[in-house]
Amino acid sequence: MSRVVAIDGPAGSGKSTVARAVAAALGLEVLDTGAMYRAVTLAVLAAGADPADPEACAAAARSVRIDLGARVVLDGRDVTEAIRGPEVTAAVSAVSAHPAVREVLVGHQRAWAEAHGGAVVEGRDIGTVVFPHAALKVFLTASDEERARRRARDEAAADRTADVAAVQADLARRDRLDAGRAASPLVAAPDAVPVDSTDRTIDDVVRSIVDEFRRREAVA
Ligand code: DC
Repeated sequence: MSRVVAIDGPAGSGKSTVARAVAAALGLEVLDTGAMYRAVTLAVLAAGADPADPEACAAAARSVRIDLGARVVLDGRDVTEAIRGPEVTAAVSAVSAHPAVREVLVGHQRAWAEAHGGAVVEGRDIGTVVFPHAALKVFLTASDEERARRRARDEAAADRTADVAAVQADLARRDRLDAGRAASPLVAAPDAVPVDSTDRTIDDVVRSIVDEFRRREAVA
């Protein structure tokens, strides 16, 4: 699809903030695919199912209805805050490693972007699997320390405990699981533009992505 900007990268690299600002600048919607994996994880936990059980997780992915907009709504219930809680964060890498779960959600992601006439889509496998023909693919990174600092700040802002060392250890654990899994691991697409946001302002990063997208549209 032509008007898709794929933004992939590890947790805490700034994807959500950057994706929202790029979408606003380009007049596109933004799709947070991590929120979809988190919503399915919440449904798995609420059903008392095992995040390591592929069948149970796939059944949950198939049976839930996830509505994404300003809020994340799972089967009619607003779960925007609940999906960011520690239980979901601890289990989401296990749930998202199941190929059958991914298959269901990737189908929803493609349909969503199609229905919205394109989108800025952020996740882990957007440029490699979900939209291999995206107009622009960005692989966003930041140093481990900077990512931990940002996540700790987010946690504190949401009134959750935020010890930087603990956050850094959890990010390292999730990076390892997300990059090491067999199904759609976190990896940069060969044609992705690498962007290191460690020492750059959000505005600067956003401007470079928007400019690159416009440059490509102009020559397309
Ligand atoms: O972006 P996030 O931290 O909210 O994502 C939560 C988890 O979901 C992440 O640890 C891995 C998984 N995920 C995925 O496997 N594929 C995606 N496209 C997006 C997220």
